[in-house]
Amino acid sequence: MELIRDTISRFKQIFYSEPDLVVTAPGRVNLLGEHTDYNEGFVLPVAIDKQIILAIGSRDDEEVHLHAIDLMRSVRTSLNSLSKNPECFWSNYPLGVFAMLRAIGAPLRGANICYRGTIPLGAGLSSSAAIEVACATALTRLYDIPISQFDLIKLAWRSEVEFVGVNCGIMDQFVSVMGKKNHAVFLDCRDFHHEYIPCPKGLRLVVCDTGVRRELAYSNYNLRRQECQEAVSHFAKKNPAIRALRDVTVEEFASEERSMDPVIRNRSRHIIMENMRVLRGIRALQQGEVVEFGKFMIDSHMSLRDYYEVSCPELDAFVDIAVESEGVYGARMTGAGFGGCGICIVREDCVDQLVERLRHEYPISAGRSLTIYLASVEHGATTYDLRDAGMTELLVT
Ligand code: GLA
Repeated sequence: MELIRDTISRFKQIFYSEPDLVVTAPGRVNLLGEHTDYNEGFVLPVAIDKQIILAIGSRDDEEVHLHAIDLMRSVRTSLNSLSKNPECFWSNYPLGVFAMLRAIGAPLRGANICYRGTIPLGAGLSSSAAIEVACATALTRLYDIPISQFDLIKLAWRSEVEFVGVNCGIMDQFVSVMGKKNHAVFLDCRDFHHEYIPCPKGLRLVVCDTGVRRELAYSNYNLRRQECQEAVSHFAKKNPAIRALRDVTVEEFASEERSMDPVIRNRSRHIIMENMRVLRGIRALQQGEVVEFGKFMIDSHMSLRDYYEVSCPELDAFVDIAVESEGVYGARMTGAGFGGCGICIVREDCVDQLVERLRHEYPISAGRSLTIYLASVEHGATTYDLRDAGMTELLVT
């Protein structure tokens, strides 16, 4: 609440007016199912307590005034000249949402917006999806734009793909909207069927930022997408019903693998087995078999390291240390990879020991320090409507 109150007073200082709404949208970690979303497969993310806080006020004209509190930067533009600004990457996420709403013909006016975040930037915890979700939620609510939750998710995702230009899957935007406290979101990225899976009790989720940021991450990400496409073409020659790697069975893979290019074979192996790990993983969680679930996490990391080749020495060092520590069930990289964060699940009474061990051993193996968070699993985007008198009383000091 403190950050929300502070964001409201910053809004007043910047825009000399009252905000109408504050929206929070969380970042995420993915427990299992990596790089499967754009292969129409399965994912199992959770929304975490790192979030974007965005305050918005309506305007009577077509002007869009944005301010990034953490960066102390402002941008002014108009609804009639929305374009991507390569010099000012942070503003492209909200501007993309304006552009997508315009594209669907939504009744839109300008707005004053300021935002800040507790999600570390570029760490693979989906700060960009959270900004898009916060902005899409705020604008549709502010201007009473009728939109289903699902269309809002797609709109936020399209703004990342079409405006920002990152060809990502839909997982991050989905969980930033649909996250549920103490539950993981099992999502079928083909038909968007989803289920909430309760998080096991007595465990903690530890998120470790390796501090590694890779400029090449996006070009590698796009390359992986292309490789998966090549794999689909290969399998579709035998079975034209195959539209995505999600459709390939283990048997089909086994009968084809010898005739495949080794790189494409490795990429396919990861996606096909990773989808199975998600399905088996949710069953393990539902049956309280945390040891089993943890094994799937470790297998997932090894597959991402060896077959999908999106890990890095620092993430591997983190996983190697974590899995040796007492009370740790599973550890792996999370998100796109090539740097960013690792996660692990650990028994509550063993957290201190794990943190101690990582603080001591990680700098020796990786040659740098690690930022460690104890994450809690939270709800998706939340709106605080300050036009409602009760809410103003609660939030405005
Ligand atoms: C990034 C993308 C997601 C997903 C993951 C990998 O976070 O934004 O859509 O593809 O990488 O699982």
